[in-house]
Amino acid sequence: MERLALHIPYVRMAEDELAPADRRLVESAKKSTETSYAPYSHFCVGAAALLTSGETVCGSNQENAATPSGICAERCAVSYACARYPDAGVVAIAIAARDATGAFTERPTPPCGMCRQVMAETEARSGKPMRILLYGTSGTLVIEGVSALLPFGFDGSFL
Ligand code: THU
Repeated sequence: MERLALHIPYVRMAEDELAPADRRLVESAKKSTETSYAPYSHFCVGAAALLTSGETVCGSNQENAATPSGICAERCAVSYACARYPDAGVVAIAIAARDATGAFTERPTPPCGMCRQVMAETEARSGKPMRILLYGTSGTLVIEGVSALLPFGFDGSFL
């Protein structure tokens, strides 16, 4: 038997500790919550993806009466970025959410499993590590690379 363990480093930063570019990306994610369509959950999520070109592409969750037909903010932003700029990589993504009261969540909002899988594919596609910024009023978690969010991930190397 071999006992193994993973070490997942991440950093929690106060707003004034974030690098200016990261702070701007978080602000874009917060702003994008305003375009959320969330009449069912009332949980408005915004995502902002920074591309290798320097361009920022935003997305928000778009819900549907047929629940699985909705899409999360992260996949909205990443899919839009890849469709609009297929040759650009996503070097960073920021995520923010407002709850049913309209206030930004205290806890940072983590991407769902499906979004993590899509983010992993996007990272593999560009070959560049993606920095992930999860905003909450209690602080922003900064995670370097999708593998920290999705250990033991399935990717194209298995096919
Ligand atoms: N949602 C996102 O857009 N991103 C996340 O990281 C978590 C969840 C959305 C999906 C759904 O519209 C709502 O939040 C409640 O689950």
